[in-house]
Amino acid sequence: MARALLSTAVFALAFSLAAASFPFNGDDLASDEALWALYDRWQNFHGVPRSPDEKRLRFDAFKANANYVFESNMNDAKTYKLSLNKFGDMTKEEFKRMYTGLRIPSDGLRSGEGSFMYENVTEVPPAMDWRQKGAVTGVKNQGQCGSCWAFSTIVGVEGINQIRTKKLISLSEQELVDCDTATNQGCDGGLMDVAYDFIQRNGGITSEENYPYVAQQRECNIAKKKSHVVAIDGHEDVPRNNEEALLKAVANQPISVAIEAAGTDFQFYSEGVFTGSCGTELDHGVGLVGYGTAHDGMKYWIVKNSWGANWGEQGYIRMQRDISASEGLCGIAMQATYPIKK
Ligand SMILES: *[C@@H]1O[C@H](CO)[C@@H](O)[C@H](O)[C@H]1NC(C)=O
Repeated sequence: MARALLSTAVFALAFSLAAASFPFNGDDLASDEALWALYDRWQNFHGVPRSPDEKRLRFDAFKANANYVFESNMNDAKTYKLSLNKFGDMTKEEFKRMYTGLRIPSDGLRSGEGSFMYENVTEVPPAMDWRQKGAVTGVKNQGQCGSCWAFSTIVGVEGINQIRTKKLISLSEQELVDCDTATNQGCDGGLMDVAYDFIQRNGGITSEENYPYVAQQRECNIAKKKSHVVAIDGHEDVPRNNEEALLKAVANQPISVAIEAAGTDFQFYSEGVFTGSCGTELDHGVGLVGYGTAHDGMKYWIVKNSWGANWGEQGYIRMQRDISASEGLCGIAMQATYPIKK
């Protein structure tokens, strides 16, 4: 499938604001004829521009996804629901290529064995939501660009800046995409640790307003790169494979985390506490902005994604916390990092 063919379509839907979950039932899946009608209705509902030719190419993916979402939601044992969202006619592989973008270096993960400023934290609140503390900006949208790493980094910097200065300033992912190019690769992926290094060495980062996001890599704007709105003093990794350490860290500030997001359930997540399935092949950077416990006692992390406010719970996903595997659900405890600001 040609990227050029899709870019206009995906960029347009990336900024649409549909909120409610797309309704359909078993009758809509009964025949190919019914499914074609459903596909048309889906397209109108989400405002996805698709030519008749493109729809013919995508029909099988749409059909498989519609059936999958329907079956999944019939399963009452699942603590979360899926929806036939704006990604409804994309295959898992295509989706991963376009909407994630974490690039693990060839020499493997960072060790996470450096100093950890929250190691001696003994008490944390039973729940934390940095959104309620005013430390989290509105949900953003990376569009069809593998720049998740920039969005994940910015969640951490916006958060610590608000905590230190009481000012919430939306910061520029585009500066990272365009200018942090030594090892990070714009829309072809990157790593949050590296981006924190860049911001520190650069002396700061500019605002979203000054250097707005365009969902593609362009030449670095040197003047804007020199216009620093927020600075940081460094960054640290959370000790690896340790959800308790992650809890201590996020009790104190929003954190950048890496997860495996390229699964069908994640793609179509709608609401509830997500329990998988997913593995630990980290492919996506997101922001960890809190934690809590559901009515049924299930513990969760509050994760800010960068796929627009019309994905998941207004752009967020609650992911199961304190699972038996030390890596955490989808590997959330494997590569967590946060900025330091004195
Ligand atoms: C934690 O406590 C130990 C023992 O008192 C101390 O050596 C260490 O520096 C403390 N760590 C931090 C980050 O404050």
